[in-house]
Amino acid sequence: TNQKTVFSGVQPTGNLTIGNYIGALSLWVAEQDKHDNIFCIVDLHALTIPEAITAAGLREKTLDVAALYMACGIDSDRSLIFVQSQVRQHSELAWILNCVTPMGWMNRMTQFKSKSENVETIGVGLYDYPVLMAADILVYNADLVPVGDDQRQHLEIAQDIAQRFGNLFGYQFTRPEMLARKEGARIMGLDDPTAKMSKSSSARGHAVGILDEPAAIMKAFKSAKTDSGSGVDLSQPLSPGVVNLMAIYGAFTGKTRAECEAEFDGAGYGKLKTTVADAVIAGLTPVRERFHAIRGDEAGLRRILDRSAEAAAARAEATMVEVRQAVGI
Ligand code: ADP
Ligand code: NA
Repeated sequence: TNQKTVFSGVQPTGNLTIGNYIGALSLWVAEQDKHDNIFCIVDLHALTIPEAITAAGLREKTLDVAALYMACGIDSDRSLIFVQSQVRQHSELAWILNCVTPMGWMNRMTQFKSKSENVETIGVGLYDYPVLMAADILVYNADLVPVGDDQRQHLEIAQDIAQRFGNLFGYQFTRPEMLARKEGARIMGLDDPTAKMSKSSSARGHAVGILDEPAAIMKAFKSAKTDSGSGVDLSQPLSPGVVNLMAIYGAFTGKTRAECEAEFDGAGYGKLKTTVADAVIAGLTPVRERFHAIRGDEAGLRRILDRSAEAAAARAEATMVEVRQAVGI
């Protein structure tokens, strides 16, 4: 087919947030019918912070995230949904790409710097995360990678690694392009609108989980940080907290930034927060209901994952045959 191949994934760690939903999952669903889709639960990436996981916890979370993909609208008849570690070619290609990736490039990765800040012992895997991510994408010769803005630098290094590999060995991977939302590509924390909302943060009032109950969602939004003003005043520049609330609202209602601004002009912050919360609750309630139904049928879920992994492995292997040939193994 002449459809473009899409690859993306989420780590099975923490509780997925509306940042993951807006920046990644809802975008995958919106684009699903146009492309040939490969969606992965990247459990090998979750090992990069081993202190944060347990074996049993990781197994559970992996199935949770798979169920969540489907609950958000990823259709297993149209898209592959599988677990990264079940397709060994990801690890094999990651090793080969390690050998061609200059450390100077890796030393520029800002996410490594921030993720390693408060960690006592940092594993080589955390440093190497972007190379595994490059392998995930390149092993399928993916054309498009729908991710949030925080992954931009990692996607750029994947492009550079692909090119360098081609120069060294003559096998040219498809250059992967980023697919991101114009608005909402970086949702900020409700407690601190200068920091990215992240599922790995444990700060109170920081994130809204995709599976949170309505009362918890309302509570989180009511305590969201805005600024010292009392309401939306378009004659002044909007503060980061207010901009963030509008971005969330826009993503859940399909309204543009201008439409959101017009709707809330003159509204008190209390009204803004409860209106945004109501939109998020309305959007997530069917997702939560579907999640519980899908996750409840574990055998059915595993069947879908196994079938997808088999199909993904066949595609990855076709690439690896050429890669091994190119490098001489
Ligand atoms: P997290 O950063 O929350 O731990 P991952 O690293 O597993 O999550 O990222 C999963 C996907 O969600 C990636 O495509 C990432 O770009 C996207 N994403 C994560 N946080 C946000 C955010 N705050 N806003 C928009 N997209 C996000
Ligand atoms: Na991330």
